[in-house]
Amino acid sequence: MLEVLKTPGDTSWFTRDRFGMFIHWGLYSLAARHEWVQHNEKIPNDVYEKYFKHFDPDLYDPSVWAKAAKDAGMKYFVITTKHHEGFCLWDSKFTDFKATNTPAGRDLLRPMVEAFRKEGLRTGFYYSLIDWHHPDFVLDPHIGPYRDHPDREKMNQGRDMARYAQYMRDQVRELLTGYGPVDIMWFDFSYPKPDGSGKGRNDWESEKLYKLVRELAPNIILDDRLDLEEGWDVKTPEQFTPRSWVTFKGTPVVWEACQTFSGSWGYHRDETSWKSVAQLVEMLVDTVSKGGNLLLNVGPTSRGEFDYRALESLQGIGEWMKRHSRSIYGCTAAPADIPTPQDCRLTYNPQTNRLYVHLFTWPFKYIYLDKLADRVEYAQLLNDGSELPLVPTDWTANAASEHGSRDNTLVLQLPTPKPPVTVPVIELFLKK
Ligand code: GLC
Repeated sequence: MLEVLKTPGDTSWFTRDRFGMFIHWGLYSLAARHEWVQHNEKIPNDVYEKYFKHFDPDLYDPSVWAKAAKDAGMKYFVITTKHHEGFCLWDSKFTDFKATNTPAGRDLLRPMVEAFRKEGLRTGFYYSLIDWHHPDFVLDPHIGPYRDHPDREKMNQGRDMARYAQYMRDQVRELLTGYGPVDIMWFDFSYPKPDGSGKGRNDWESEKLYKLVRELAPNIILDDRLDLEEGWDVKTPEQFTPRSWVTFKGTPVVWEACQTFSGSWGYHRDETSWKSVAQLVEMLVDTVSKGGNLLLNVGPTSRGEFDYRALESLQGIGEWMKRHSRSIYGCTAAPADIPTPQDCRLTYNPQTNRLYVHLFTWPFKYIYLDKLADRVEYAQLLNDGSELPLVPTDWTANAASEHGSRDNTLVLQLPTPKPPVTVPVIELFLKK
C-alpha cells in the first residue's frame, strides 16, 4: 500500500469514513445568488445589513439535515461557522454580527452540532479567514466588496490586522472549547501575492492560530489553507477532480475534494448547472479510487431547509450507498499492479482484502480483468449479492483472447441488462 505523508492530526477515522457533507449557510442564503454575492455585486456593509435584519430561518430543524446526511451515507459534516461576509452562526462573545441578533434570535450552531452527533456524524468547523465585516480587516485591492472603492485607502486608516488576528484566535477558542469535541478545523483561505498584496500567514498570524488549534485539540484534522508549509493534515482540491492521488513534494497525502451539487456553495435559487445523481456517485467513486475523501456541499435556504434539488440528489446517492457503501468505507486505491479495466474505477479494502470494480459503462457479456485470474476466490455483484461464476479459462479462450491478449486474465460473465443501480459494482474476494 502507498505510504502517505505523516501529519499531526488523527486521520485514521477520516480515511475510513470517506464521505462528508459541507454546509454553507449564512446571510447570503437570503440573497440566494452565491455566497460571494457581497463581493460580486460590491454590496457595502450598510446595504448588506438588510439580510442581517431579515434572517429568520423559521423552518430550521437540524435533525432533518442530519438525517438527510446520514441517509446519504455521509459520516461527517463541516459547517461554515463564519464565511467571508463575517456573519457568525454561533453566539460569539466577540461580535454582534451573529445569529443571536437576527430575527433567528438564537445560537444556530449548537443544535446543529447536537443533531449531527446524535446521528453519529463527526463535526467539522469551517472558519473564514477573510472577513469583509470586521472593522479591523484591511480591505484588499482585489477581493471584497470595497476592492475598487475610491475611498478604500481612507477606509483602511486605523484598521489593524493584528487586532483582527486576535479576534480570530478568540473565536476559534470559543468554537473549540464550547461545542464538544471538534474533529475537523477548516480555515479558508489565503491569497498571498508575490508583490506583497493579498493575505497570508503574516496577516492571519497563522503560526499562533496553528498553535492554539493544536493546544486545544491536538488530534484535530486541519486543512491546508493557512498558508503554512507544514502542520496541515489534509489537502483540499476544490471544484475539480484530481487526475491521480494528490501529492505534496512528490509524497502522497491525505486529501479531500470539496465539491458542489451546482456551481455555488451558498443557496443559489437560479443556478442551473446541477450534477446528476450518476455524476455525483461517479465522483465519489472516482475520488475514493484515488485515495481521497469527498466533501459534498449543501446550501440551505434562508428559511432553514435544504434545497429541494440537493435533497433529491442526496436521496439518490443514499439509494446507491445503501447497497454499495462497502466499496467506499474503509476503501482506498487498488494495489498499483492491478490494472483498471476500461470505463471502470477500482477501490480496495486492505482489511477485508476485497477489490471493487465499479462499471461506469456496462459492457456486453464479459468483463476482462488482467492479472487477477489466479488471485480471486469469489466474485459477486454487490447490489444483490448474486454470484458471478469465475469462467474457466479454456471455456472463454475464444471470447477472451480472440481479439486481445491475455495476461493472467480473469473473465467474468455478466448479465446482459445492466443491474438497476446507478453504478454497478463487482465485489472480488481476493485469495489470502
Ligand atoms: C472558496 C470560496 C468559498 C467556499 C470555499 C469552499 O475558497 O471562497 O466560497 O467556501 O472555497 O472550499
